[in-house]
Amino acid sequence: MSNPSPIDELFAFLRFASVSTEPRHQEDVKACAGWLVEKFRSMGLSAARHETAGHPVVLARNAHQPGRRTVLIYGHYDVQPVDPLELWSHPPFEPRIVNGKIFARGATDNKGQILAHILGVEQALQRDGDLPVNVIFLVEGEEEIGSPNLRGFLEAHRDELQCDVVAISDTGMLAPGVPTFTYGLRGIVALEVKVKGPALDLHSGIFGGAIANPATMLARLVATLHDAQGRVAVEGFYDDVAPLQDWERELWRQLPVSDAELLTLTGAPGLFGETGYSSTEQMWARPTAEVNGLGGGFQGVGSKTVIPKEAFVKLTFRLVPNQDSQKIAALVQAHLEQHCPPGVTLEITAGHAGMPYVMDPHSPYGQAAQRALKATFVREVALIREGGSIPIVQTFKDVLGVETMLLGLALPDCRAHAPDENFPVENFEAGMRLNAALLKELANR
Ligand code: BES
Ligand code: MN
Repeated sequence: MSNPSPIDELFAFLRFASVSTEPRHQEDVKACAGWLVEKFRSMGLSAARHETAGHPVVLARNAHQPGRRTVLIYGHYDVQPVDPLELWSHPPFEPRIVNGKIFARGATDNKGQILAHILGVEQALQRDGDLPVNVIFLVEGEEEIGSPNLRGFLEAHRDELQCDVVAISDTGMLAPGVPTFTYGLRGIVALEVKVKGPALDLHSGIFGGAIANPATMLARLVATLHDAQGRVAVEGFYDDVAPLQDWERELWRQLPVSDAELLTLTGAPGLFGETGYSSTEQMWARPTAEVNGLGGGFQGVGSKTVIPKEAFVKLTFRLVPNQDSQKIAALVQAHLEQHCPPGVTLEITAGHAGMPYVMDPHSPYGQAAQRALKATFVREVALIREGGSIPIVQTFKDVLGVETMLLGLALPDCRAHAPDENFPVENFEAGMRLNAALLKELANR
């Protein structure tokens, strides 16, 4: 029987509804990890699924040879929830190709990108019977929920995971065909606040005026998070923020991106942000406070005169070097308590946290990655930082002592985390070539 094609393999991978945050998908997540283990073994790698307190970690490796460089290729097989489901043009776990793009949840983030590396290795093994470097694949199932168990896993498997450098394709490309090296990521702190008022929902006519409305007080509280300049108004928030370097400001000014494109891409009616910084600077190198969800009170059709007993908001803060996620979490908590509006109490639940990351793109590994990108796309490489977070990247540095090369393949309109997520077949194929080019670069010492 002939091998399944790379697209067939990707489709099989995409059919698993591996939504890490939803308990009802736990078995799908596990089965997806099992599929990966089988895939690695079928390629001749040794592989295992490692149970954690959460979702499993998949590790695989070729036969390592002393004297060779070791690269750890990281990715994640978990995906974000699919809702709102009704906004998808096709069911999210029934992948299909339309106009050269693969549509499915996880197509870009991150199944398409990590599988390109896996299949790149498979092709090299089939062609040469060997790889030019030692490879460790680490594919986790909890990235989209902040990798809560991965630090412990790295610590427990430190020896087995010894490597020279980490490679990840889970970031973006500036534009189609533009090879992009990302040398920094924002960190993140998540928390949820419940604003609690009366012991039960109240008639808003009978009690309104004398009893504080938790939804109103929630709005007041949220409004304290920013000042009029668009800066985060939490005391001490900016204390450790590393200023942008002149060279990067200059470099980013020359990138072929514009505010007009940003508006088209997002469909937003206008721009917003911290005074004194360009959009790329605001997104890549400045910290933020964001409301990801809020609710409380009557959500149904029609009207209902009620004072809800409580309201909630889900917040995340994006962090930049050298902010510390634990320290910021404490500052935010203090801010919220200090600004608790009258007549209500707050219940604050801390969520996940991840550190920001930055590396020197002119370092030897930075340059090796850029040569591989240039060879793959045959174009000058754009150097950027990104606003998104991959919480484990700084942890790789802390625990394994190594830097990470971020070689993203996602396009700006990939709709990651949104309905109709997609990944061009072209980028999937480029990813396999990129893997070959990268391993070749790393073999040269
Ligand atoms: N692939 C993204 C991170 C990303 C996206 C980096 C775009 C750079 C550009 C990753 O899967 C992701 O979505 N991470 C989450 C982490 C969070 C849930 C802890 C994020 O950034 O929201
Ligand atoms: Mn993601």
